[in-house]
Amino acid sequence: MTTVFQPEAAVPQEPAAAVAQETSSPGARLWLNAKGLLTPSVIIGLVILGVFVLLAIIGPYLAPDDPSQTTAALLQGPSLHHLLGTTQTGQDVLSELLAGTRASMVVALTAGAVATALAVLLGTASGLIGGLVDELLSVVTNVFLVIPALPLAIVLAAYLPNGGEVALVIVISVTGWSWGARVIRVQALSLRNRDYVLAARASGESMLRLIFVETVPDLLPVIAIQFLSLVLFAILTEAGLAFLGLGGTGGWSWGNMLFWATEDSAWSQGAWWWFVPPGLCIALVGTSLALINFGADEVLNPRLRSARIARSNKHRAADPGDDPQPLPAPAPLAVDALAKPLLEIRDLSVAYRTTDSPVRAVRNVSFDLRRGEVLGIAGESGCGKTTLAYAICQIQRPPAVIDGGSLWFHPDESSPPVDLLTMSPKDRSAFRWEEMAVVFQSAMNSLSPVIDIQTQLTDSLVAHRPGWSKAKRVARAAEVLTLVGISTSRLRSYPHELSGGMRQRVAIAMALILEPAIVIMDEPTTALDVVVQREIIEQLTELRHALNFSVIFITHDLSLLFEFADRIAVMYAGSIVELAQSADLYLQPGHPYTLGLGNCFPNVIGPLRPVAGIAGSPPDLRHLAPGCPFEPRCAFSMPTCLTQEPPLAPGRLPLHDQSLVACFLHDPQVTDSLPAALRPGQAENA
Ligand SMILES: Nc1ncnc2c1ncn2[C@@H]1O[C@H](COP(=O)(O)OP(=O)(O)O)[C@@H](O)[C@H]1O
Ligand code: SF4
Ligand SMILES: [Mg+2]
Repeated sequence: MTTVFQPEAAVPQEPAAAVAQETSSPGARLWLNAKGLLTPSVIIGLVILGVFVLLAIIGPYLAPDDPSQTTAALLQGPSLHHLLGTTQTGQDVLSELLAGTRASMVVALTAGAVATALAVLLGTASGLIGGLVDELLSVVTNVFLVIPALPLAIVLAAYLPNGGEVALVIVISVTGWSWGARVIRVQALSLRNRDYVLAARASGESMLRLIFVETVPDLLPVIAIQFLSLVLFAILTEAGLAFLGLGGTGGWSWGNMLFWATEDSAWSQGAWWWFVPPGLCIALVGTSLALINFGADEVLNPRLRSARIARSNKHRAADPGDDPQPLPAPAPLAVDALAKPLLEIRDLSVAYRTTDSPVRAVRNVSFDLRRGEVLGIAGESGCGKTTLAYAICQIQRPPAVIDGGSLWFHPDESSPPVDLLTMSPKDRSAFRWEEMAVVFQSAMNSLSPVIDIQTQLTDSLVAHRPGWSKAKRVARAAEVLTLVGISTSRLRSYPHELSGGMRQRVAIAMALILEPAIVIMDEPTTALDVVVQREIIEQLTELRHALNFSVIFITHDLSLLFEFADRIAVMYAGSIVELAQSADLYLQPGHPYTLGLGNCFPNVIGPLRPVAGIAGSPPDLRHLAPGCPFEPRCAFSMPTCLTQEPPLAPGRLPLHDQSLVACFLHDPQVTDSLPAALRPGQAENA
């Protein structure tokens, strides 16, 4: 079968990227990102740091006295005349502190910036150029990493005795860049083989452009975190060196104040006002940087961000007022399917609780998976297919939350049903793969590149069949590999040694190795060419007949499902809008969206007809308007469609099996008849 139109290809966005792109303008996106960064800890950190930056700018002008001016008021405690007291030689401590704030902040920020620039330059060059350059730069970086920073700084500072701030910046930058360079090199290595970097290389872009235009923008979050850490390192190193008498800033700094306080025995004389203020300033700036760093990391690091959103969702759950908009009343499942389907899904709802409005990715989805059937799920990119698959397998990760519905597995006619949503984690991991396995879209991503096929195939046997001998496991791995049409001589191959089609077959073999009752396949053939796609579909059909498992087959390609699936559920905006036998759906689509999807590919055996797309784009799942979600794109819209969402109910088509359609065109109370394009017999000629 030839497929010319691929709705997924027309909207080629990764889910998360799509969410970001849904925001109206770059300014609004920037504001959303900045808003997301403003956690309480970041705000507190920014306020403290802001105060010190302000003091660094205006502090010296606010100083009541010349900080170096000696007076007769020797070692006096705080008073109205000297708010922070005086030193052994009668100098005003407040004036020293204000002058020192500027020097310390200037050194810390400049050294932080220089060290970060060094780390970015050397780290990205090392990661992107690779080869000998990478090896040399890695050796240099590792040498600097293993030398303890403070002793090295002491040695360097001793060689630059009266260099002032410039010498300090050099010393701190030379000793601090290596950690950042190592982190950035690792990130650059992972970006190096991304398609857009490869394309930029192929187009002949210079290395500097590759670094600063293609790579650095992607690394900005990591670079920002490195900068904050290096400023903190610089503050502490400056204070440490000055305290040891090696930090000649040429004037006052917090470290110098501590040095003179120690020299003149302020501690033993109880002159706390002399050493506590600079110590407190160092601690406060350090705390502010750490708070910003942790807060930013929590937002920028996907793992920590997920945990944060999960935490905030817990709090939200206790506050119903702050919860997402309630879902519309669940549509009753009007068809009484087989008495005991294998899987029974009722009103399943999943939302991504992001820092913005929740994304209602799956809304009140209900269907049964019958024994031995292939149920196809079709729909445009972003309509919730993958989210639904993950929820059924219980592998959704925060911020995805199942916030409604039920999921029942009926093992066989005599055993009690299993409630998949309330299973214990232990039972769930025993259930997964044993009864329900998944084949993900990109086999290359689901296979580990560093482990051979045999080990990857036998991994699940080690976990689920602990009593099996190694020989038995290997024999089973060979058996399933043969089943999917790959020679057993490939058992010891690594994924990169196989073609895309072979890797996808290996992924299918992995899913079948424990003979599960259900296999969920999320776009398993989308990345493959049509010839390989057809081979795999034929093989799946054979395997299904041989092993009698049920399949939920997810794809945007409705034409593929017409050939392969027994029944098809069409999804739109997180809901099922039509569910019917695939032959019926092909001949008599009941929903205008199904009709539109069907018209997106050419008729290879019937008369020629124009290939049309569906005008408009899917709705924003964060802000669904009332009424039918398809209304803005629907050619048959009626006034009722603007205010009410149609329930999934039996259609008015005389089909072999009862079909369900969510469209008011099938509701006799709303309209008397179907439009001509949806009447039986029209779809073939449409
Ligand atoms: N981690 C996430 N955070 C927020 N929204 C998400 C996330 N992942 C997916 N989405 C959104 O959920 C919706 C459904 O996505 P998905 O299930 O991947 O659709 P499909 O598989 O049909 O392309 C889309 O609008 C997508 O942007
Ligand atoms: S309910 Fe109305 S808007 Fe929605 S698909 Fe049917 S006719 Fe179109
Ligand atoms: Mg998907």
